[in-house]
Amino acid sequence: MPKKKGINVGVIGFGTVGTGTVKILRENAGILSRRLGFPVTLKRVVDKDLKTNRGVKLPKGMLTSKVDAVLEDPEIDIVVELIGGIRPAKDFILRAIKNGKHVVTANKALLAEKGNEIFAAAQRQGVRLGLEASVAGGIPIIKVIREGLVANWILSVYGIINGTANYILTKMTDEGAEFSNVLKEAQRLGYAEADPTFDVEGVDSAHKLAILASLAFGIPLSYEKVYCEGITKITPMDIEFAGELGYKIKLLAIAKATGGGVELRVHPTMLPVDRLISKVDGVFNAVYVEGDAVGETLYYGRGAGDMPTGSAIVADIADIARGIVAGADRPAPAFGESSLKIRKIEDISSMYYFRFSALDRPGVLSKISGILGKNNISIASVIQKGRRVGEAVPLVVLTHMARERDIRRAVKQIDSLPVVADRAFFIRVEGTEG
Ligand code: HSE
Repeated sequence: MPKKKGINVGVIGFGTVGTGTVKILRENAGILSRRLGFPVTLKRVVDKDLKTNRGVKLPKGMLTSKVDAVLEDPEIDIVVELIGGIRPAKDFILRAIKNGKHVVTANKALLAEKGNEIFAAAQRQGVRLGLEASVAGGIPIIKVIREGLVANWILSVYGIINGTANYILTKMTDEGAEFSNVLKEAQRLGYAEADPTFDVEGVDSAHKLAILASLAFGIPLSYEKVYCEGITKITPMDIEFAGELGYKIKLLAIAKATGGGVELRVHPTMLPVDRLISKVDGVFNAVYVEGDAVGETLYYGRGAGDMPTGSAIVADIADIARGIVAGADRPAPAFGESSLKIRKIEDISSMYYFRFSALDRPGVLSKISGILGKNNISIASVIQKGRRVGEAVPLVVLTHMARERDIRRAVKQIDSLPVVADRAFFIRVEGTEG
C-alpha cells in the first residue's frame, strides 16, 4: 500500500467540545503539520444543528447533517465522536470501526459502560481508539498511565476528575454559596454534563475512574462495580466543621490496590488543608498516580471546557495520524488481562467524620462513644456546637482508621437511639493518622 501523505478527519458533534476541536484543527493546522511532518485536514463536521453560530468559520459544505458523509467517506481516516451519550454514539463508533476507520472519542459514559465491547471490535478490525479526552479534559493522564509510567506496577490512581463538582464545592467553601445557584453557574459556563446529576451524584467521576482503573490495573472496564456517592448531601455546616478540623471537602475518585484487590470508589472526601490536592479549586482537575518505581506523581490542569478537551482530542488525532503515516498502526489496546477483584465498599478502611444531631443532655456523648467503641471504632476528636439544653445540636466526631463495615453497623445502632434526632451523616477522611 502506498504511504499516506496526509490524514483526513471527520468530526461528529459540533457542540462544546466539537467546537473546541474544530477551532484547534483549523487555527493550529500549521503548527500541527510542522510537528507531524504532514497535514491533518478537517474534511467534514456533522451536526443536526446547521444554524447556530459557534464563532468558527467553516468552508461552505463542510458542515452537514448527514453522518454518512463521515462514516461512509473512504477518504476519512479518523472519525471523532463528540455527541456523547450511549445511543446513537455507540452505533456510529461501531460503524466507523467496521469501515476500517480509527476513532477518537471523549465519551466517558459510553467507554465506561460499553467500552469492553467497543475495544474488542476495534482490536478485531486492527484500528485504534483514542480516549485521552474522556478523562480529566486537557490533562494527558491516559498517556501518562499507558506510556510515561508503563514501567511501573501502579499502586493507586486518585484525584479530582469532575470540574463541575469541584467548582461547586469551591464556591460553597469560599463564598458560602447555595448549591443550586452554583450549579446553574457551572452549567452556563459549559462545564456540566447534559444531565448535571451525572456531575453532582458522582456518576461522571465514576465513569472516568472506571477508565483510569482499567488502564492502571489491567482490569476490564468495571463501571458497575464503582462505589459512587455524590456531593448533594454536603451542607455548608459540614464544610465549616471540616475547616475547623483542618480539612477541605472534595469529591475524590479513588482506585487503589489493597488487600489483594482493587478499591474503586467515588465520594466526598475530607483532605488535610495543607495537601496540594486541597488547593485544587474551581473547574481544575488533579490526578495522582503512584507507581512502584516512580513513587507518587501529580498531574494538574483544566478538566472540562471546549479548548482543554479539544486539546486532548487533537493530541489523539496526531498520535493516530503518526501511526498511520509511519505505517506502524497498532491495534487498540486490550483491557482485562488481570484477574484482580474489585473490593466491596464494606471491606475498605478509612478515617471517618460523623455528624450527629443529638439531644443536648448529660450522658448522650457517652452513649454514642460507647456504640463506636463496641464496634472497634476509636475516636480522634469531638466537637459540639451551641448549647440548647434538651434540644438537638450538631455533634461531630472524627475517628481513627476504622472498617467501613463497622462504621455502617455503628451508624445503624446510633440512629436508633432515642436521643438522636436525625440520621447520622458521615464523610470518609484521607490523610495520615494524627
Ligand atoms: N462535566 C464534566 C466535568 C466535563 O465537570 O468535569 C468534563 O468531563
